[in-house]
Parts: sequence; structure tokens; C-alpha cells
Amino acid sequence: MRRPVRIAVTGAAGAISYSLLFKIAAGEMMGKDQPVILQLVELPHAMDSLRGVAMELMDCAYPLLHTITLHDNVEDGFSNAHYALLVGAKPRGPGMERRDLLEENAQIFARQGKALNDFANRDVKVLVTGNPANTNALIASRNAPDLSPSQFTCLTRLDHNRAKGILANHCGATTRDIGGIMIWGNHSPTQYPDLHQATILGKPAMAQIDTTWYRDEFIPKVQKRGGEIIEARGLSSAASAAQAIVDQMRDWVLGTEPGEIISMGLLSDGSYGIAKGIFYSFPVICNYGRYQIVQNVEINEFSRQRLTATEQELLDEKAAVEEMLPKETEASHQSLSICLRSGVTLYADNTGPDADSKFMTTNRVL
Ligand code: NAD
Ligand code: LMR
Repeated sequence: MRRPVRIAVTGAAGAISYSLLFKIAAGEMMGKDQPVILQLVELPHAMDSLRGVAMELMDCAYPLLHTITLHDNVEDGFSNAHYALLVGAKPRGPGMERRDLLEENAQIFARQGKALNDFANRDVKVLVTGNPANTNALIASRNAPDLSPSQFTCLTRLDHNRAKGILANHCGATTRDIGGIMIWGNHSPTQYPDLHQATILGKPAMAQIDTTWYRDEFIPKVQKRGGEIIEARGLSSAASAAQAIVDQMRDWVLGTEPGEIISMGLLSDGSYGIAKGIFYSFPVICNYGRYQIVQNVEINEFSRQRLTATEQELLDEKAAVEEMLPKETEASHQSLSICLRSGVTLYADNTGPDADSKFMTTNRVL
């Protein structure tokens, strides 16, 4: 049996976690041969509820569930964590946009970034779900000077899965028949679900669907799906969000299938002309625990306008939280790098600024 890995989950007594934790314990995220230690974090007032969740987890007798620990603060909860799923935050209600949560949730992610920096395993992989997910990921990452920004991602896999499901339903196909979906930008109504590279049964999707349906129905439906669910349920998506978290982490850790492209929110490295320094959803492939942005995707005029609109929204969100972004980490988020306490800066391969700067290539996850 392999050694157990430590997975910290915030908001562990909330709606998403009530689905998520059971999937993780069943081996759906880290693999069917990987024991897990769940480090569950909640606000102090929700600890009774959290104890109930822990009892239920225990009562499922999952063979891969090694230990459960409960914490009312992130500093303890993140201790030595190999993976951190930042779910805990306030959800929006009917009539709100996700960015309306910025002010209330920003503080949470600044503290969590600091706690990850100080207490988590040095190679921790972080997935931010709490909304607005992209900008919260930026806040957390900017508050973690000793970790690489590439260790932080945000959840746009839900949008990816939604696009796949809606397209499959429209075409009478199954999701297994569909590939090449790409979500660009923000987890918000400006996101761009791009079908120009998508395939249905191996053939170009755009040749099999009506362009008017794509532009006037499909795109807005994916963009506004979260709101549609809130209107219908009175609560935000939970089970589908949990599935998306599992999918995104599993692919990041265990790798994507050969030929498969997924969408992940990550720090822009300037690919496709997108401004550096914001968390933006790109098409990626993953292997060996790393992700790589898929390059050379053709971007037509229609797509470019949408890539730019969602980029602008993220730049505006960033400007709104500027005081939560320490100056100390500005440079490491422009040129993907990690500043070690020793003063040495490690850059991802081929991204170092110039020959004069302290420069090392590294195999560490960058
Ligand atoms: P919920 O209200 O049911 O649960 C959130 C839980 O987080 C609560 O139990 C609360 O006590 C806890 N919490 C709040 N602040 C915390 C903190 N600082 N530390 C630890 N725990 C804390 O909400 P939910 O439905 O589980 O959704 C959680 C978040 O995920 C919301 O912000 C929601 O908008 C977001 N979300 C994002 C996506 C996505 O695709 N990115 C999808 C669905 C939901
Ligand atoms: C979603 O997309 O379902 C979540 O981000 C919740 C929301 O506020 O829409």
C-alpha cells in the first residue's frame, strides 16, 4: 500500500463538500490505490456539523480513508498538506453576480494563502473553488511568497463539463464522443466556451452544429449555467461542482488521457497574448503532476473578442483587490518563478528574464 497523502479541504461542512469528501474517500480523485488523510477545516460555529460529516465518512468504512482530522482554523488544517481544496467561502444567492462576493471572500483567501505558505507541504497543489474563483486564486497565490504560483489553480472544470454535457445533449451524443472543448478566461458570465477545436465522434463539431445555435444559445447557456441552477434550486450547484473538483485534481495529479484536452484556471504566462499576472482558464494537458497550456490553437476574430472581454473583467477584478496583493510577489507572478528565502529565484524553464538575473532551471513543479 502507498503512503497516505494529506488533503486539506475548507468549507468541509458545506454543500459541495457533502458530495466531494465521499468521492475523495472512495478513491475517485487520487486513484484507487492511494490512501488519503482528510484534514477538514470549518469555521468555529460549524464544527458540530463537521463532526457529523466525519461520523458519516467513518460509517462508510472506505478502505482508502486512513485518518480524518477536524480543524477550526486553516493554520492547523493546512499543516503538511499535499493538496488543498479551498472550497469554503460564501456562495452567491439569486440576483447576485460572483464578483459581488469579492469583498466578503477576499480576506479568507489572503489568510489561506499565508497559511499554505507557512504550514503546507512545499509541493502542495492548490485548487480554489470559492467564488470569485479566479481572483481568489490570485489573492491566495500572491499571499504565498515561498510557493510557486504554478501550485495554484482555480476551478473552471465545471464550465468545461457543462459545455460538454450541453453539447452532447444537443447532438444526441454521449460525453465520451466529445473532445477538444476549451473554456477561456473567468469563471463568470464573460467566460468563453470555445467549440472551434471541439470534435463529435472525431469530426469537427462546428461542422455538425448550427452556428446561430452556437453563438446565441450554447455560449450564453454555459456562461450563465451557475445562475440558472441557483434560480431553479435556490442554492448554487454542489454535486456537479464536487465532480468537477475531483476531475480537475485527478487530471492534474494523475494526467490527462492521451489526446485529451481539459480546461483549468491558472496564472497566465502571456500565452495567447493574455496579460500576465491574472488567473485565466486555458486549455491544458497534464502529465507527471504538471500542466501545460496547449499552444498554437487558432484564434479567429470572434474568439479574440471574447478572450479579450473576459481578460478585461479579470484585470478589473484584480484592480479591485489590489490592496490584498503584496508587492513582494508581483514579480514572481509576471515571470513564473519562485523566490526562495535564501534570495535565489528559480524560474520555470525558459522563462527567466535574462542572463544577469539569478537563474536556475529546476525539476521542481513550476
Ligand atoms: P456552503 O455555504 O454550502 O458551504 C460553504 C462552507 O464554507 C460553510 O460550511 C462555511 O461555514 C464554510 N466557510 C466559510 N468561510 C470559511 C473559512 N474561512 N474557512 C473554512 N470554512 C469556511 O457553500 P457551497 O455551496 O459549498 O459553495 C462554496 C463556495 O464554492 C461558494 O463560494 C460558491 O460560490 C463556490 N462555487 C464555485 C464553483 C466553481 O465552479 N468555481 C462551483 C460551485 C460553487
Ligand atoms: C457555479 O457556477 O455553479 C458556481 O460558481 C456557483 C455560482 O455562483 O454560480
